[in-house]
Amino acid sequence: MCGIVGYVGTEPAGPIVYGGLENLDYRGYDSAGVALVDQELTVAKQAGEVSELRVPEVANATCGIGHTRWSTHGPPTDANAHPHTSQNGSVAVVHNGIIENYESLKGELLKEGFDFSSDTDTEVIPHLLEQELNDGHDLLSAVDRVVDRLEGSYAIAAVRAGSDRIVATRHESPLVIGHGDDAAFVASDVTAFLEHTRDVTYLEDGDVVSLEAAHATVYHDGDRVDREIETVEWDADAAEKGGYEHYMRKEIHEQPTALRQTLSGRIDLDRGDVDLDLSFPQGYLESLEEIQLVACGTSYYASQYAATLLEEFADVRATVEIASEYEFDGGRDPWRTLVIAVTQSGETADTLGAIRRAAGAGARTLAVTNTLGSTVTRETNDTLFIRAGPEIGVAATKTFASQVTTLALLAVAVGRGRGSLSTADARDVLENVRGLPGAVQQVLDDEARVTEVANECLGSDAFFFVGRRFGYPVALEGALKLKEISYDHAEGFAAGELKHGPLALVTEKTPVLAVLTAGADGSETVNNLAEAQTRGAPAIGVVSDGAETGSLDCALEVPRVGVFEPLVANVYFQLFAYHVANLKDRSIDKPRNLAKSVTVE
Ligand code: BG6
Repeated sequence: MCGIVGYVGTEPAGPIVYGGLENLDYRGYDSAGVALVDQELTVAKQAGEVSELRVPEVANATCGIGHTRWSTHGPPTDANAHPHTSQNGSVAVVHNGIIENYESLKGELLKEGFDFSSDTDTEVIPHLLEQELNDGHDLLSAVDRVVDRLEGSYAIAAVRAGSDRIVATRHESPLVIGHGDDAAFVASDVTAFLEHTRDVTYLEDGDVVSLEAAHATVYHDGDRVDREIETVEWDADAAEKGGYEHYMRKEIHEQPTALRQTLSGRIDLDRGDVDLDLSFPQGYLESLEEIQLVACGTSYYASQYAATLLEEFADVRATVEIASEYEFDGGRDPWRTLVIAVTQSGETADTLGAIRRAAGAGARTLAVTNTLGSTVTRETNDTLFIRAGPEIGVAATKTFASQVTTLALLAVAVGRGRGSLSTADARDVLENVRGLPGAVQQVLDDEARVTEVANECLGSDAFFFVGRRFGYPVALEGALKLKEISYDHAEGFAAGELKHGPLALVTEKTPVLAVLTAGADGSETVNNLAEAQTRGAPAIGVVSDGAETGSLDCALEVPRVGVFEPLVANVYFQLFAYHVANLKDRSIDKPRNLAKSVTVE
């Protein structure tokens, strides 16, 4: 997701806007820019990191906007960096999202004599605004009129020379306002301005906001509307690295805390039930025929883990779909199909598109997300927050554990609601779930051994991860984590599949990492592992505490928490990926080519 920041107040805008871009910079951008408002606009923008951007001093400018870009249309060049300006230089615009009809709009503007200086879709916006301003509209109505002509997704902030005012609007791309003392902020993420204010308003699709120093006014369909002002609990420090070299290692070590937050107030052992603040229509759960989980990346593997939990605890068919491939079809009854969007950011365009298709077909929808105010929370019937706290590293870590744990609680709720999970069985599950923070801590305390194993594996040709049942999605996630940040080739397999082809790739230079714990049919997997070992492959196995380790080259242990042992085993794989990547001096928090949340399809 690109980064938008805007400020209007009584202080010089340049340093505040630039500071906001720095706060958003963790997402790995390839260009940045600002526009400062005085009688003229001062625009500075270029390809490269935020740290390379030089913001000019404009003493009288107390209003400005800024942008950090992750290229979608046009390569990262100075010309393609935002802000983009109108032909006469009086308007500057920053934009997140994709204008799907920009070619036709651009064609019209070229015919009317407008010149374009970039390859971006965004540039049509300032030229269209210039047209509306020339027709006598003010900036607010000009924005309103222009966005009516746009198709696609956008979060836009615009400024006009000579006017200390920002007008911003959103459609399918996040935008949040900050309310300061004699100041107002707008951004794509609260992290941008959290050091200045924690009083925020999350805009909704179609909202248009006019920001001036003393106040922010929100309009919707031309009428003024009152939107709630919320106070963001976690402060900017929470998003700092807290003494760790990388956000990713901090977030791996935050998992016990994150899991305690995830579970807080939700487990009732006496009743053998959970309190999720979710309500389904009378009889809905009993009549449910299928639960579909739609997700991308790490969230997709968390969904695979959850689908098996749902089938086991709730006795309901549960299927997992890659969001970008999802259609609600197959003769399913929308009244008996619950579709769950699993997305930590709540902004992933593929997942939003999938859940919209499900809702459009009439299915009930549920969001499982980490992000308050995110778009997915407004596009679903209900939301279940995973409460992992802010996750800055591009590679998901603690949110995976909190997603699976939250979905495990949901599986208990659905099982109890359907009468398919007894009080005693629910208590057993919840006892194991309650043990997760401590179990994860035990793995974290064993990190030094993982560092040794990572060292021994340097120079490998490739890495294979194998597991069965709950160990299978963990094998897939373990491989994804390693390839995301170390750039080494890594692949996950169902352990039983190794002999049906992948074994041809196995040599003494392809370590195999296996989930051999409870919940992963460890005894069968040991045999699959032996097939690789006889070809010389080093075998690293994660086993239950005290279990037989056989001929493993390295045995790593997890506490006994039943079907959640593979989830705990995954923490070893996270640490392994981190230390392999660190030994290779990779850009761990901002791996090349990747973004924390991809808000384009
Ligand atoms: C990718 C991220 O772009 O999106 C992954 O790099 C993430 O870490 C995936 O798992 C899905 O993101 P989300 O926010 O929908 O869970």
